[in-house]
Amino acid sequence: MLIQRNTKHMSLRGRRPSRMLRAGLLLLISMLALQGCIQPSSGGESTDTAGETDKTFLYETMNYTYKTDETGFLQYIVTGMDAQYLVLANKTSPLGADYIPDTVRLTCATNPYNQRDETLNSRAANALYAMLSEMAADGITDIFVTSSYRSYDRQQSLFYGYIDEEMSKNPALTREQAEQIVLTYSAYPGTSEHQTGLCVDFGTNAEYNEVGEVLTEYFEETAAFRWLIENCYRFGFILRYPEDKVSVTGYTYEPWHYRFVGREAATEIMLRGLCMEEFLNELN
Ligand code: DAL
Ligand code: ZN
Repeated sequence: MLIQRNTKHMSLRGRRPSRMLRAGLLLLISMLALQGCIQPSSGGESTDTAGETDKTFLYETMNYTYKTDETGFLQYIVTGMDAQYLVLANKTSPLGADYIPDTVRLTCATNPYNQRDETLNSRAANALYAMLSEMAADGITDIFVTSSYRSYDRQQSLFYGYIDEEMSKNPALTREQAEQIVLTYSAYPGTSEHQTGLCVDFGTNAEYNEVGEVLTEYFEETAAFRWLIENCYRFGFILRYPEDKVSVTGYTYEPWHYRFVGREAATEIMLRGLCMEEFLNELN
């Protein structure tokens, strides 16, 4: 077997799983490599005798364990890298106005301060419930979903609302200047990942009580964030807009935004210190 990609990204700085966790994983991988189970790539693409790329992934070396009984949720979080959970929505891969995924209403805690119904892809929703149960088993219950699937129309109203807000905060701005500012933190209608129905924004009461709103950098200070950053990959989620990937994702850091990609891809992205765009580039 062969590890197709090199591991140079694995020591990236930023809000990543703890050094101890990564060190443990690296040790495990090194031991497997020493035993000949896996062989690091020399850096380039490799092909087998039939001329096809031999892809071996780091997630295959993982041993996942859960406090909660996983028999009920493995069917959701293990996707086999199914492409429908790897849908890319960003500034250069728009979904368009007509993209309307199937979604179900979320039954977990949602933002008590806005009383809105939240909906999500049903597989992502079940993975989310499993993740929240494991969090609760670890004593963390102060967490709610504050945004999930967003329609094209809703994104449009948010986006243009933000432009108005920027212009009223700073009347010297032209509309174009205000739009450029908004584009650093909010997606142009038709390009938001929220329109895939595969991602959620989280908030906590601690954050709301401290700041008076959610979706703030204060989320980083919460126990929920500390747990998510260490564990979300085990349930198929990734931190989608990391602090050290702004130049790739095109968005400022969002400690509250998690995307479902399935456990295999999430593990790969976490272990290699990639963001979703980088992972998909390497995969293709
Ligand atoms: N805040 C993210 C980038 C969105 O608007 O989809
Ligand atoms: Zn979001």
